Amino acid sequence: MADKPWDGRFAEKTDRSVEDFTASIDVDRRLYAYDIEGSVAHCRMLARTGIITDEEASELIQGLGRIRREIEHGDFEFDPGLEDIHMHIETRLVQEVGKVAQKLHTARSRNDQVAVDIRLYLREEILHIIADLAALRRVMVDLAKIHIDTVLPGYTHLQRAQPVLLAHHFMAYYEMLTRDGERFRDARRRVDVMPLGSAALAGTTYPIDRDYTAELLDFSEVSANSLDAVADRDFAIECVSAAAISMMHLSRCSEELILWSSAEFGFIDLPDAFATGSSIMPQKKNPDVPELVRGKTGRVYGDLMALLSMMKALPLAYNRDMQEDKEPIFDALDTLSSCLRIYTKMLPRMRVNTEKMMAAGSSGYLNATDLADYLVNKGMAFREAHNCAGRAVGHAFAKGKELHETDLDELRGFSNLIQEDVYDALQTRQTIDRRTSAGGTATANVRKAIEIAEKTLDGEVQT
Ligand code: ARG
Repeated sequence: MADKPWDGRFAEKTDRSVEDFTASIDVDRRLYAYDIEGSVAHCRMLARTGIITDEEASELIQGLGRIRREIEHGDFEFDPGLEDIHMHIETRLVQEVGKVAQKLHTARSRNDQVAVDIRLYLREEILHIIADLAALRRVMVDLAKIHIDTVLPGYTHLQRAQPVLLAHHFMAYYEMLTRDGERFRDARRRVDVMPLGSAALAGTTYPIDRDYTAELLDFSEVSANSLDAVADRDFAIECVSAAAISMMHLSRCSEELILWSSAEFGFIDLPDAFATGSSIMPQKKNPDVPELVRGKTGRVYGDLMALLSMMKALPLAYNRDMQEDKEPIFDALDTLSSCLRIYTKMLPRMRVNTEKMMAAGSSGYLNATDLADYLVNKGMAFREAHNCAGRAVGHAFAKGKELHETDLDELRGFSNLIQEDVYDALQTRQTIDRRTSAGGTATANVRKAIEIAEKTLDGEVQT
């Protein structure tokens, strides 16, 4: 059983079951590199301010470096009795450099350490997520370029509504994923704040230089209030919330891929390498990847709820409840990243049944709005035109025909404003290309949107 830093005040050894129960090392060992980075900066600051000597600092820093290599090589021994990564490293440092190691914890506490570790982790992880998002955004743009001529029935209420370009649909996902990236970038500003030196909760009596520590760790700011600095997990909740929103987008995409790959839609075929079969029904090919992405979305929402619920009744400042933060944080970001990556690989390999999509996009009276618009252009008020087109749809439907298959004299029965040129207006291509309002599905608009997206993505790579 390991000695504890608090042994001085305790008459009894910690019960083994309590050690196991309170340990977080299995989860937070992942933070080791950040913990060491934070300790090295803290040492440098202690030396610079004369709280420890330069020789002591260099011994400590060298010892920390050796521990880092030991962990990286898998030679480090973990012990639940030492609770967390902070105590593991400090205890090992005592073995490594002797008594001087006991000076490392001057003017700091594990509460500041864990806060700085999570911030350092998130600061880096967010950049990976932003890169993963950018890769998938590029896939969406590439798919849009390929499908600039493919027509898809656009839906509302999952009822066919109006034809759109499949490219426009992919670009909608590009927009969603772009906002996701912005959300992470924005959250990163609030992650990028240095909490070390809060010394558990109240600040410290030592003449520390927190700005210097922040500079060493490349933080943009120093936390302004010691209580807040150790009690705050908003920054992590924001990141997990951004992850939850992004998962929601992927889940909506999943839902469409699942529907579209069903025999009922038959719009797409997922690559065999990204599907699975059935152990009993030989004909089956199941869209497991999108299904799992949709399922994992629930998990990430759970991570967000776990964090929000964990924090909601905590009095200031640090409470041990907060140790429960790491699993949901890691899980949310790992899950998002794996989903983004698998979609980035899978989507370019999806086969689109363009004829079937086009057929679905050109039938079912998806040009009814265009008949109304045609009448408006000929001078009729929109409400009246809507009613007139609606009656024409009812008539055509009863005859088992589409609007564009209905004879001119039959159509003229609904309004004598209708002339031969109505058939142009009812063509699917026209219905798409006339939607030139900003953000609309007209081919010219979508081409422009693709061009802007490509410039944006290229610009992001350079910065
Ligand atoms: N393992 C702890 C955590 O993750 C570190 C902080 C411990 N602080 C304390 N006062 N027990 O939150």
